[in-house]
Amino acid sequence: MAKTLKTTEQTEVSEAQIAVHWKEEAYYEPSEKFKAQANLRDPRIFEKFGLDKFPDCFKVFADMLTWFEPYHTVLDTSDAPFWKWFVGGKINASYNCVDRHLAKYGSKAAFIFVPEPEAERDVVITYQDLYTRVNDVAAMLRGVGLKAGDRVTFHMPMVPELPITMLACARLGIIHSQVFGGFSGQACGSRIQDSGSRVLITMDAYWRNGTLVDHKANADIAVRTATELGQDVDKVLVWQRYPGKYSAKTPMVAGRDFFVNDLLKDHNGKTVDPVPLPSEGPLFLMYSSGTTGKPKGAQHGIAGYLCYVTATSKWILDIHPEDIYWCMADIGWITGHSYIVYGPLANAATSVLYEGVPTFPDAGRPWRIAERLGVNIFHTAPTAIRMLRKLGPQEPRKYKYHFKSMTTVGEPIEPEAWRWYYDEVGKREAVITDTWWMTETGGFLGTTVPAIHAMKPGSCGPAAPGIHPAIFDETGAEIPKGSGKAGNICIRNPWPGIMQTIWGDRDRYVKTYFAKYNRNPRSKDWRDWPFLCGDGAVQAADGYYRILGRIDDVINVAGHRLGTKEIESACLTVPEVAEAAVVPVQDELKGRVPEVYIAVKPGVPPSQDIIDRVIKANEEVIGKIARPKHVYIVPDMPKTRSGKIMRRVLAAISNRRDVGDVTTLANPDVVEQIRVMVQGKDAAKTQAELPEDIAKFGQVE
Ligand code: WTA
Repeated sequence: MAKTLKTTEQTEVSEAQIAVHWKEEAYYEPSEKFKAQANLRDPRIFEKFGLDKFPDCFKVFADMLTWFEPYHTVLDTSDAPFWKWFVGGKINASYNCVDRHLAKYGSKAAFIFVPEPEAERDVVITYQDLYTRVNDVAAMLRGVGLKAGDRVTFHMPMVPELPITMLACARLGIIHSQVFGGFSGQACGSRIQDSGSRVLITMDAYWRNGTLVDHKANADIAVRTATELGQDVDKVLVWQRYPGKYSAKTPMVAGRDFFVNDLLKDHNGKTVDPVPLPSEGPLFLMYSSGTTGKPKGAQHGIAGYLCYVTATSKWILDIHPEDIYWCMADIGWITGHSYIVYGPLANAATSVLYEGVPTFPDAGRPWRIAERLGVNIFHTAPTAIRMLRKLGPQEPRKYKYHFKSMTTVGEPIEPEAWRWYYDEVGKREAVITDTWWMTETGGFLGTTVPAIHAMKPGSCGPAAPGIHPAIFDETGAEIPKGSGKAGNICIRNPWPGIMQTIWGDRDRYVKTYFAKYNRNPRSKDWRDWPFLCGDGAVQAADGYYRILGRIDDVINVAGHRLGTKEIESACLTVPEVAEAAVVPVQDELKGRVPEVYIAVKPGVPPSQDIIDRVIKANEEVIGKIARPKHVYIVPDMPKTRSGKIMRRVLAAISNRRDVGDVTTLANPDVVEQIRVMVQGKDAAKTQAELPEDIAKFGQVE
């Protein structure tokens, strides 16, 4: 077995470098029409953002914002690797996204909310409306006793009240922590506890796939879970999907639960001055999965984050105030925070907010919305692209919208899906930016600048201005471009969008993102602290990066990061389960889905009932997105002689591949039993190579 380098948190990857071969794809050039109107078209930008100009090059980003007081230091590295950007400045994110646009764009739509039921009318919220509503809510939040530095957890669906409440918090310096609405009440509760929130803000109900979901039920579970974990919640503020009417069946709890619309009655029409906050004050937390069972709260700061998403929205998404921009992501994920709310609004864009499922009631829905609203910039994930292609390959042709630019984010996109997106959705007119980044990075890392670089299907491109990636092998040696070898992609330099820390866990921040390639833990020089992104990647000779997937036992299901340890712990909540192992399986639509292997306790007969309860446990502890594709009860887990579960072997079986040499295992016979159980007696194996993330999955064992 290959010698391994082990770090406490994130990676246990074999030293062996695996050569990655794939067909080189042809380039696609942006049209002259696109180039002529683009915000960023001068290739000399990359000289201006060379490492020799670091960090002052980022002043241009800060200049895109309006400051109450100027900063004196661009980057303070004295507490490396806890970078402080634009120190000394005073600023407010809510002011930058709302107030400063009123004079010029007050009557222009900030958001257009499209409810899922097609018969319901759009709700247009102008910048003036947004200003009024954000002020009302800020006054209400102040009225319930919240102040700068407090944390508030949201468990909100895709409705305008979500960004309104976020901006109201930002106005006062209250740190918001939005938990994806599709996560379970328990998952929300554990995040409430971690962040120490005493207030939960939710909504009674929302539409999903034609059903009005009772969402208030999750709030009760969330509060109970948080209390059990030691965090009391004093107040649950409940927005109403239909104001004035309660759309959930779950009763309100007297003294704890309040309708926001009732509380607002005392505050309507009030103005709340945006608080001048320090640049490096925290803006929000966003929880994300990693190697351990405990999600980490990525803490993003006000000025650095906001200027980064503002600049990348302008230069990469190419948002102009006149554009109608639609990102189909959920605001509950980082993409929605950065590229539905903060980035677009700071640029005075019109941002479309769609409540529901893209394929509801049919695969023509997104294109009807685009046509009706005149959307010209479109942003989505490969899973949605695959799904829309499968259900309605010809649908986009029926509608007369025209996109100038399109984005893909969240997962690697296979060239075939990319081409459908380009040919059919973009009608060969729109540029595509494949944007690679993560919760921790605030905004785009790997991407083309659409008016400067050609597109290459399947590769995200080089990197955004000011981002300097490097791919390292396990020894810390840099892998040269064009070598065809994969390694761990890192960013050499800090950038304003990078998270500030993991909420309440400085050590974990250093260990997870820096320990692996840090040269000197006492160094105050940023050059000694490359940021480990957590993905495997290869760089082609032309400098374009191809992202191969996570290296930290995270499964990317339809663009959503799920930790295998989180899923395994959920399985272990079923009392009969003795051991659980989760592996990623390739899926035509969702990219990867989890498959679960469990061993039951001695004397317990295997049963469908146990399987059903394991599935239910995942839905309850995490959410429906964690639902395993299959659950197999195995007679024993394949194990090394030292007792470690060989997830790599299980992953090979689940993905219909050869298991390789298992003779050194403690129990080699069980491998064949499991193989027959999963694949059938003489199932033909697929010969194709496994994708990197699966091939390397659990490799250390
Ligand atoms: C994956 C989402 C390939 C990657 C913004 C990363 C991608 C993880 C791409 C972060 C892309 C994101 N191509 N893979 N364009 N974008 N990923 O934190 O594995 O939810 O580490 O942030 O998604 O997921 P997260």
